[in-house]
Amino acid sequence: MGKTTLAAHVAALLARAGLPVVALDLDPQNALRLHLGLPLWEPAAFTAHIAQRPNWRECLVQTESGVRVLPFGPGDAVRAMGVAQALTTSPELLAEPLREMLAVPGLVVIVDSPPGPNPALAAISALTDILVMVLLADAGSAAVIPQIASNRILGRGTLAARVGERAVMVLNQVENGNPLSEAVLDMAQNALGPRFLGVVCRDLGVAEALADRRMLLEGEPGAGEDLLVLTEALAKRLRTAAPGHGAPGYGAAPPNGTPWGRA
Ligand SMILES: Nc1ncnc2c1ncn2[C@@H]1O[C@H](COP(=O)(O)OP(=O)(O)O)[C@@H](O)[C@H]1O
Ligand SMILES: [Mg+2]
Repeated sequence: MGKTTLAAHVAALLARAGLPVVALDLDPQNALRLHLGLPLWEPAAFTAHIAQRPNWRECLVQTESGVRVLPFGPGDAVRAMGVAQALTTSPELLAEPLREMLAVPGLVVIVDSPPGPNPALAAISALTDILVMVLLADAGSAAVIPQIASNRILGRGTLAARVGERAVMVLNQVENGNPLSEAVLDMAQNALGPRFLGVVCRDLGVAEALADRRMLLEGEPGAGEDLLVLTEALAKRLRTAAPGHGAPGYGAAPPNGTPWGRA
């Protein structure tokens, strides 16, 4: 769908703009670290050990992109289910370290979630400034756009509605000139208005770059340019989400202690 690709690129582009960025992987696929340039055999783990209350600062891994990553960690399905179970009973296991991260002045935390509703996302959703939903420009997305617009996709009741206010949507793998793609794009823009954050086109260069272990950070035509525009839009939202701190424009390093919020 593109969640991990987008999370990695937004994190790396914000780091490039001079912000301190931590990328937190909640998905047992453990792929975020690969997108940020770490090797397959990298053993570091954070989320996989969450029940043992690991110290997040000690689990940070520096990447060439400038982003420090908290990998999920290697493991099998049994471990993944153990983590989900632990977070269902004790969401604080994850909420507490995230709260600590967010208390670090200026630190931006980008979180990569597993697909769909899951205990890890539920544990942290109340703490997020912005929740980015990534959808493909296909018929399946057309069916859920009205649910996103009404916040029904996040559940029922006041809590879901409050999270919904912070939820924005990105359409990934949009194909220029493809009638279905264009129809879904029109529909998303009309139904979501300002909660429609942006578009990333389908570009073979995305998968090629990952295979070559490099990132699309130069804003080259295609997905590279779209990811840059998307990051700018997100940075603008983050400044609005954490108002009153006089944060500078995107591209400039923030003065010490400027909170930029987090996604
Ligand atoms: N805009 C895009 N154009 C072409 N391929 C893409 C694009 N975005 C993602 N992909 C590819 O789709 C696959 C899934 O992407 P990924 O970011 O891992 O999705 P998710 O985290 O939602 O499972 C990967 O092979 C990725 O390279
Ligand atoms: Mg993923």
